[in-house]
Amino acid sequence: MRMRKIYLDWPSLAERGLSVAEEVSPGLFEPRSIVVVGMGGSGILGDYLEALAYNKVPVYTVKSPHLPGWVGDRDLVLAVSYSGNTLETLRCVEQVLSRGSPVVVITSGGRLGRLAEERRLPLVRLVEGIPPRTALPEMLFSALRVLENTGVHIAEPRDYEEALSLMRTAASRDYGRLVEHLSTGFPIVVTCNSLRALGLRWKNELNENSKLPAKLEVYPEAGHNDIVGWELPPPGDYRFLLVEDAACSHLTSRLAEYYSAVGRVARLAVEGSSLLARLLQGSLVAGLVSVEVGVRRGVDPEETRSISWYKGVLKGILGEPGDR
Ligand code: F6R
Repeated sequence: MRMRKIYLDWPSLAERGLSVAEEVSPGLFEPRSIVVVGMGGSGILGDYLEALAYNKVPVYTVKSPHLPGWVGDRDLVLAVSYSGNTLETLRCVEQVLSRGSPVVVITSGGRLGRLAEERRLPLVRLVEGIPPRTALPEMLFSALRVLENTGVHIAEPRDYEEALSLMRTAASRDYGRLVEHLSTGFPIVVTCNSLRALGLRWKNELNENSKLPAKLEVYPEAGHNDIVGWELPPPGDYRFLLVEDAACSHLTSRLAEYYSAVGRVARLAVEGSSLLARLLQGSLVAGLVSVEVGVRRGVDPEETRSISWYKGVLKGILGEPGDR
């Protein structure tokens, strides 16, 4: 099946990301912040960069047609839309251009690709013809390379190597137990701050590939609100997935006990010493498992017709890019 094959091909997509971005530079050195503009499977790049750059540089992700007022000429904007036709992203890019902020475009084509060519904007051209969400490793590796070209070093060469090697190992494993766990009931992904982006990815992959509603809770914040909602026995069959980082494994063990009282719990410990490797290894597992859950549920993991419907609705409201 095509989706399975694309996920299994992630190590080569990631390697392609490094080479396509080799020469791409925004002509700005050491930006004050990185602003990632994008939606869905493209916008999640911002969440990953935010996690990876946590102790190095502020990363702000804009999943909206409105660019924040403070974005200026010392901030580097990464405008990411796999299709190049997402309205919220195109609207933000219009604002970026009118403010003169340095911008790098990451896309496989569409309107954004044409705009980048017309305006001679630095451009990372992604491989064409795959679902946007499956392009994550190429987007992430190319963005990291672009940032290196601006003097922002987030990952070491050994981190890329580790991520590639753990993705190769993850691709050959059997995830039958997790697939079984998530094939019925309502999935709830629980994780801690360091893996928030991965938790979000799991939720989104269960939505898009498995056609399941899903919820994400992130600790420590969830310990200050969400946890109270489980005090009475809840209606329904809840399937907790605890995505576990070594940094919070003690807490995860206690949470596993807590959630066992109200639903079924599976734990998934991500592998890798670098955060880059842990995020990508965990994302590949999310992709492969969510595709198999979709197959078990009798749906086509690839198609996302509700997103097409929503994009049509939005076009009716916002109009074509360039309209006002
Ligand atoms: C579909 C997917 C979606 C899209 C989103 C934005 O695979 O992942 O979440 O990413 O609708 O579209 P693009 O990525 O083309 O800007």
